[in-house]
Amino acid sequence: MRFLPLPLLALIAAAYAQNSGDVTDYAPTTGLPCPNVTTDPLIRVFTPQTQALHPEELAYINNRTTSVLPNAWADWLGDGSAIGYNLSAFAGKFPKISISVSGGGYRAAQYGAGVVSAIDARNESAKAAGTGGLLQVASYFAGLSGGSWLTGSLYLNNWPNISDLVYGNGNDLTGWKLDLDLAAPNGINILDDDNQAFYGAIIESVVAKGKKGIDTSITDPWARMISYHFLNGTTRQNFYQNNTPHGAGQYWSHIPLTPMYQQFLAPFPILVADSRRVGDNSTNTTALNSTVFEITPLEFGSWDPSLSAMTNLTYIGTHLTNGVPDNSTACVNGFDQAGYMMGTSASLFNAFVDTAENALDNFDNFDSQGLLYVLGRQLQDVDTRADDVANWPNPFQNISASTFQDTNQDYLQLIDGGLNLENVPLGPMFVKARGMDFIVAVDSSFDTTDTWPNATALVTTAQRLSTILQSSHQQFPPIPSNQDQFVSTGANARPTFFGCDPTQNPPEWPLVLYLPNAPPFDGSQPSTNTPTLKLDYTLKLTEIFLDQVHNNTIAGFVPNTNNADPNWGKCLQCGAIDRARYKTTPVTNRSDFCTTCLKQYCFDPQNPPSVSELPNRVLTFHDPDPQGVAKVESFFKRQEGPILGGSIAGAVVLVALIAFFLWRRNRKMKARYRAVAAMHHDDGENLQMQQAGMHSRGITDATMVGQGHGLGASESTAYVPEAQELPKEV
Ligand SMILES: *[C@@H]1O[C@H](CO)[C@@H](O)[C@H](O)[C@H]1NC(C)=O
Ligand SMILES: *[C@@H]1O[C@H](CO)[C@@H](O)[C@H](O)[C@H]1NC(C)=O
Ligand SMILES: *[C@@H]1O[C@H](CO)[C@@H](O)[C@H](O)[C@H]1NC(C)=O
Ligand SMILES: *[C@@H]1O[C@H](CO)[C@@H](O)[C@H](O)[C@H]1NC(C)=O
Ligand SMILES: *[C@@H]1O[C@H](CO)[C@@H](O)[C@H](O)[C@H]1NC(C)=O
Ligand SMILES: *[C@@H]1O[C@H](CO)[C@@H](O)[C@H](O)[C@H]1NC(C)=O
Ligand SMILES: *[C@@H]1O[C@H](CO)[C@@H](O)[C@H](O)[C@H]1NC(C)=O
Ligand SMILES: *[C@@H]1O[C@H](CO)[C@@H](O)[C@H](O)[C@H]1NC(C)=O
Ligand SMILES: *[C@@H]1O[C@H](CO)[C@@H](O)[C@H](O)[C@H]1NC(C)=O
Ligand SMILES: *[C@@H]1O[C@H](CO)[C@@H](O)[C@H](O)[C@H]1NC(C)=O
Ligand SMILES: *[C@@H]1O[C@H](CO)[C@@H](O)[C@H](O)[C@H]1NC(C)=O
Ligand SMILES: *[C@@H]1O[C@H](CO)[C@@H](O)[C@H](O)[C@H]1NC(C)=O
Repeated sequence: MRFLPLPLLALIAAAYAQNSGDVTDYAPTTGLPCPNVTTDPLIRVFTPQTQALHPEELAYINNRTTSVLPNAWADWLGDGSAIGYNLSAFAGKFPKISISVSGGGYRAAQYGAGVVSAIDARNESAKAAGTGGLLQVASYFAGLSGGSWLTGSLYLNNWPNISDLVYGNGNDLTGWKLDLDLAAPNGINILDDDNQAFYGAIIESVVAKGKKGIDTSITDPWARMISYHFLNGTTRQNFYQNNTPHGAGQYWSHIPLTPMYQQFLAPFPILVADSRRVGDNSTNTTALNSTVFEITPLEFGSWDPSLSAMTNLTYIGTHLTNGVPDNSTACVNGFDQAGYMMGTSASLFNAFVDTAENALDNFDNFDSQGLLYVLGRQLQDVDTRADDVANWPNPFQNISASTFQDTNQDYLQLIDGGLNLENVPLGPMFVKARGMDFIVAVDSSFDTTDTWPNATALVTTAQRLSTILQSSHQQFPPIPSNQDQFVSTGANARPTFFGCDPTQNPPEWPLVLYLPNAPPFDGSQPSTNTPTLKLDYTLKLTEIFLDQVHNNTIAGFVPNTNNADPNWGKCLQCGAIDRARYKTTPVTNRSDFCTTCLKQYCFDPQNPPSVSELPNRVLTFHDPDPQGVAKVESFFKRQEGPILGGSIAGAVVLVALIAFFLWRRNRKMKARYRAVAAMHHDDGENLQMQQAGMHSRGITDATMVGQGHGLGASESTAYVPEAQELPKEV
């Protein structure tokens, strides 16, 4: 038998891949028969007093606790003697540990990645420093906004190590490709043919969803853009091609099917999203008492006493009243697109829309243009009710009728999990039923003028726990009383433990480890305090970013020096194991080694530390790859006039030219996505007809680029620009 030549094999493989789905897999499946909710309920309602974990979450945690964690602890701490303990004496009593990764866009995803690499036993330098191993003993892992992108990427890619995940492994992992801008991957000219193919594919996805009768919004194209980077399947080669679904059809509820989950190899994942009460049109932060939701692979809902209910994630997208679907075939599956879950957690648009300027504040001009361009086109075909939030059919209508803010609504308005200022997803970790002992807060919030965190997130969560969540959640341990004190004590600029010395047993609060994004311990210039809405990173910047975070996280600090602390890894072990002492009878004394360590790293409210112990820290951002930025900027300057600020006539000519080239190219290269300019607004599907017979098509897209368009009103009609005719036969 003859062997097929390699290129032919590649073609066959591509054809196979093409058959395995396309971007319209983003559409949920509607009209499904519903379970009999009398016997198989779709929601569970509880109270703060009767709260309980979903039985499958409990089974996962228990299995991991018995079959995986004992070995992971032994692998990390050995027999315990190096930190003054006998590990076997703690068998069956290990602390329950969780990790929460903050929001902050690409900065947060990368900061989280750098920290994860530094606590991962699979990383040799982390292992050597003694910090590598914390990841392996964790039971929960939460992400919010940019942190949710890291989380989704880790879990939908079977929990690989960070190098493989971020840079790709040349095999089944394609890397994050952060140098391809999130909202304008082929450069700032949004009418460029590759960008046009990209937007075309995104619109096809979103329109396919909208045509199922589910309201979309700007969160949907955002979700699709995120998927190109953080989900499996998109390479540099196929970025603009239609031989992969680009992450469409990967479901959050399918995480339990992955090999790592089936072997309990990873902590249980959770995402957090906030809500804006329907009718509250606020365009900045949301009220602290507004419902906070969580998304697990099993459930969606809230532990807030005002709601206290969860629904089955597989059926999310189904509208339920009193837990009952509209009729026996009104059920929905596939709304839980992994990209949409991450997009919802990162849906910050209500805080950035600038109605006056028709722009997204704080976004780069071309990112804003790209997003609004797609939104404008999308809303010609499908409905929205609120274009600046994530629209979720409400599964909790009529639930907790006297306390739940959206009990009368048929849709929920979900927004970025950081918009109530709790930018670290800590809430789920304090839920009483989860019984957490040790909580790691990974924080790269933008709080100070130099884009460092000042623990606003911790202060806010402590406040929410002590007011709104007193009955349902554990309390925060003592922390500095405000952000000023965080800054003056230096507790926002190096690793710090909170709550080391409880006054009762069981302890009145969990122990919290704060790992804030901070200037390099060695006094070198920082490159990790990048803007939140910087949506492209050169490879070099990403490498230096991750290495700085990794180096800082394995270093700890030595007061009044710029040295790494050789004991930090063991001190981290001391903190992580500490709560086990309270579970033995009698309580085990803290070892001498750990007592010394924790004196240095624990926050003592009676005897607070000082920022002066952290000398020579450089606060100002340093760009290690200025050429990378300069290149983009000079391109931007060259193109800005003619394309973004130029006349409509110029744009019309451009669209015409591009349409012409695309028309020619599409005939040859079927695998390329249709450009937006080649889409007719009432045509979701019929490309052939389009290419063969279309002479007059709206140039609405060009019009929008030239004129901008409104964002902020809730009516889709606000976006339909005036249609004009293109010259015949471009
Ligand atoms: C649902 O289950 C209940 C309890 O078994 C039964 O009484 C009811 O008839 C079922 N409903 C339907 C529509 O099958
Ligand atoms: C482990 O998980 C299985 C289901 O996957 C469950 O039946 C079993 O009870 C769990 N074991 C423990 C100890 O929870
Ligand atoms: C450690 O604890 C185990 C179990 O309590 C005990 O059998 C063992 O002798 C202890 N080892 C040392 C060195 O104390
Ligand atoms: C990525 O997707 C490909 C094709 O669907 C699959 O073969 C591969 O196992 C996936 N990789 C991971 C890490 O999930
Ligand atoms: C919110 O916006 C909607 C739609 O524009 C409007 O009907 C409603 O009155 C607004 N609510 C408030 C409180 O401003
Ligand atoms: C937030 O928005 C409301 C109106 O939506 C406005 O009244 C308030 O001043 C804004 N707050 C801040 C801090 O911008
Ligand atoms: C969701 O509902 C389906 C159908 O009743 C059921 O098989 C599945 O176990 C449920 N999942 C969860 C997480 O409750
Ligand atoms: C069932 O409910 C769905 C969603 O509300 C609706 O679209 C559909 O028309 C209803 N079907 C019947 C038979 O009433
Ligand atoms: C939230 O607080 C506002 C006042 O700040 C109050 O009007 C509203 O009723 C509260 N909502 C809930 C659900 O408690
Ligand atoms: C802390 O951050 C908040 C924003 O989250 C800012 O308003 C405040 O001024 C900052 N305070 C200090 C002391 O840095
Ligand atoms: C460990 O982390 C360092 C720093 O980011 C990185 O250079 C190295 O490649 C990592 N090793 C592995 C096996 O991931
Ligand atoms: C990280 O630490 C390694 C080992 O000390 C060093 O070689 C490297 O230059 C550091 N990287 C950065 C970006 O600081």
